[in-house]
Amino acid sequence: MHTQMFSAKDGRTVLLRKPRWDDLDGLLALINSLVREDAPINRMAEVSRLEESEFLTKRLSSIENGAIIQVVAEVDGEIVGNAEISKLRGREAHVGRLGIGVKRDYRRIGIATRMIESLLHQAEEHGLKIILLAVYANNLSAITLYRKFGFREIGRTPKGVRWKDAYVDDIRMVLEIA
Ligand SMILES: CC(C)(COP(=O)(O)OP(=O)(O)OC[C@H]1O[C@@H](n2cnc3c(N)ncnc32)[C@H](O)[C@@H]1OP(=O)(O)O)[C@@H](O)C(=O)NCCC(=O)NCCS
Repeated sequence: MHTQMFSAKDGRTVLLRKPRWDDLDGLLALINSLVREDAPINRMAEVSRLEESEFLTKRLSSIENGAIIQVVAEVDGEIVGNAEISKLRGREAHVGRLGIGVKRDYRRIGIATRMIESLLHQAEEHGLKIILLAVYANNLSAITLYRKFGFREIGRTPKGVRWKDAYVDDIRMVLEIA
């Protein structure tokens, strides 16, 4: 990917780049900050450093072989955001699945928007034609963000997600990029 720098809406300088091995602790801190704030993501338990190092080892080779496109956002040396598109396989190899997360203190300053722009651009270069994602129906911030990019809902699993003492729908959204 092309490394890029931009000024966020609050004036902070943000660097977007490919992840690398020495991001291990930064990525671990990011995922665990999302778990601790009880963000609307699938993971509920904190990740250990060993789990994250095994994950990152596989992840870096998937990036190297083109199976995954990933971008991290860095502010003053801290990893504050991560986004990826994982390519499906076989007859679905033209489809990619998007995932994204930004640390709480760095939200609403345009970081997710810039990461998605970068990923969609790279996805096109990789020949992907369809991007899909799953989002919980109570995650209005993410749904609003995805709609801004033209993602539309294509279906939902009613009560597909256990959320605290209730259930919420699991929404699937799709964007055609070619
Ligand atoms: C969803 C998430 C990635 C958005 O990241 P972000 O960097 O704050 O997004 P941006 O600043 O680029 O916001 C872009 C637009 O999305 C919408 N949006 C983002 N957060 C919003 C909020 N809390 N309420 C309403 N709209 C919101 C707005 O339209 C916003 O544009 P605006 O700020 O000009 O109004 C972030 O909130 C997050 O990481 N949440 C926890 C993890 C998560 O939910 N991941 C997605 C799982 S499907």
